[in-house]
Amino acid sequence: MDVLECIKTRRSIRKFLDVPVEWEKVTQIVDAARCAPSAGNLQNWKFIVVLNEDKRKSIAEACVHQLWMGKAPVHIIVCAEPERAKRFYGIRGERLYTIQNCGAAIENALLTAHSIGLAACWVGAFDEDMVKMMVQAKKTGLKLDGPYPALLIQGDDELGALAEVHSKLYQASVNIYASTGVTDSKGNYGYLVYVRPEDHNRAAKALGI
Ligand SMILES: Cc1cc2nc3c(=O)[nH]c(=O)nc-3n(C[C@H](O)[C@H](O)[C@H](O)COP(=O)(O)O)c2cc1C
Repeated sequence: MDVLECIKTRRSIRKFLDVPVEWEKVTQIVDAARCAPSAGNLQNWKFIVVLNEDKRKSIAEACVHQLWMGKAPVHIIVCAEPERAKRFYGIRGERLYTIQNCGAAIENALLTAHSIGLAACWVGAFDEDMVKMMVQAKKTGLKLDGPYPALLIQGDDELGALAEVHSKLYQASVNIYASTGVTDSKGNYGYLVYVRPEDHNRAAKALGI
């Protein structure tokens, strides 16, 4: 497929076959991403390849509940390193070039995926606080991949706040397997609530997440 045809026929696809992707193809995509142009050739990006199904489901939830994402056999997370660009180019490097660099890398990845016959979609909508909280929960040793999927709810540490979460779930007839509070290093507070897979959507709806 030539470049123009690839650009013109690429589409965002949100339905996936339950078939593993060959590792060679994954590396081909990441390699194309890292070949993108970047300001000052800083290449201030990092790529995280996620194959684990539970992790993909958690990511899909953090991406404002775009659950279709969990069905994609591979997630490639593009992380920016704004500090490096800031050192060289100040605020312009941090806020503008970094985003442009990563955007160029993502487009390379999408076009490459399409050219080798893989469906893909750029996902930009995610709850950053939720992702930070998940990272923090992991650091403190809290298991997010429990016997049942965990819901992460942002809240506050006011007395009775967790009880309110329980009450909402009770009213929605959702049984809670376990629950606990989590906090990140900046004092943001939240709760992890484990519910049965069949109750998951109802629980998320009851909690407005
Ligand atoms: C910065 C950015 C963020 C996006 N975020 C999402 C997203 O969170 N969820 C989603 O389904 N699509 C997302 N998309 C894909 C767009 O919806 C899609 O590219 C657009 O509708 C055009 O469709 P096409 O890619 O098939 O040409 C995003 C695209 C970009 C460039």
